Amino acid sequence: MLEFRDVSFKYKEDDEILFKNLSFFIEQNEFVAIVGASGCGKSTIFRLINGLEGLQSGEIFWRGRKLAEVDHLFNAFMPQNDLLLPWRTTLKNVEMPLELESISKAERRRRALELLETVGLAEWANVLPRELSGGMRQRVSFARTLMTGADMLLLDEPFSALDYLTRLQLQDWLVEQYLIQPRTIIFVTHDVDEALYLAKRVLIMEGRPVQGISSVDVPLTYPRIRADLLKPELVNLKKQLLNKLGSSTRSESEVVNHIV
Ligand SMILES: Nc1ncnc2c1ncn2[C@@H]1O[C@H](COP(=O)(O)OP(=O)(O)OP(=O)(O)O)[C@@H](O)[C@H]1O
Ligand SMILES: [Mg+2]
Repeated sequence: MLEFRDVSFKYKEDDEILFKNLSFFIEQNEFVAIVGASGCGKSTIFRLINGLEGLQSGEIFWRGRKLAEVDHLFNAFMPQNDLLLPWRTTLKNVEMPLELESISKAERRRRALELLETVGLAEWANVLPRELSGGMRQRVSFARTLMTGADMLLLDEPFSALDYLTRLQLQDWLVEQYLIQPRTIIFVTHDVDEALYLAKRVLIMEGRPVQGISSVDVPLTYPRIRADLLKPELVNLKKQLLNKLGSSTRSESEVVNHIV
């Protein structure tokens, strides 16, 4: 569905190149996590997919066509901060993506309410974002992302600002949404446990500047349960991933403690 082929990129303002010859592909309806150290260029990958930045060399393909030739790449992007409009109610925030289309107000309202129900927040339709907890705001933001109808979701560290328990709850909730309606999900995180729990495959951005991206299939059946993270297969995989990310100075026992 999406392919990066030998993509190199540098921001004009920066002296150093950010990626060199980056290649990877993502199949339709795959749930893939991208992990990489802070500042390695994870968010930039989403900017490139959305055409917000131009490539120095290489090519991005979307359903077999060069991205530059695709008029409108239909995807939904959810940034790390929820970006809800504080003066709009939950319902009106979720309706937003439909306001640009010629859809009647009643129909917009109906669809937004239906989505709020899906995310368990129908009762909160008429309150302002400040009255919601962080986890609820993320769910509203996610509902708004789904409202676009896009079948590819680009999620940029959507849970990183949340407390630990809320994050675990939303991870389970996201997996549930994915199983109910499979779509292509690209989930950026720097949390290796989160990547291993959520995704079927993990892409690791290695080096600084990034020289390559490796792909690892996560073993075990999907969806996973929390206890899977303690199984030797995943503990070993986690060690490998941390090594690739440059945490090789940690001792093995520290790595295992961290997972527990
Ligand atoms: N618009 C920009 N102009 C110039 N440099 C930028 C721009 N956006 C990002 N950068 C730089 O490019 C590098 C990669 O940024 P990016 O936001 O893609 O990293 P990231 O992997 O998403 O980081 P984080 O994990 O902290 O979110 C950083 O060094 C950043 O300072
Ligand atoms: Mg980022």
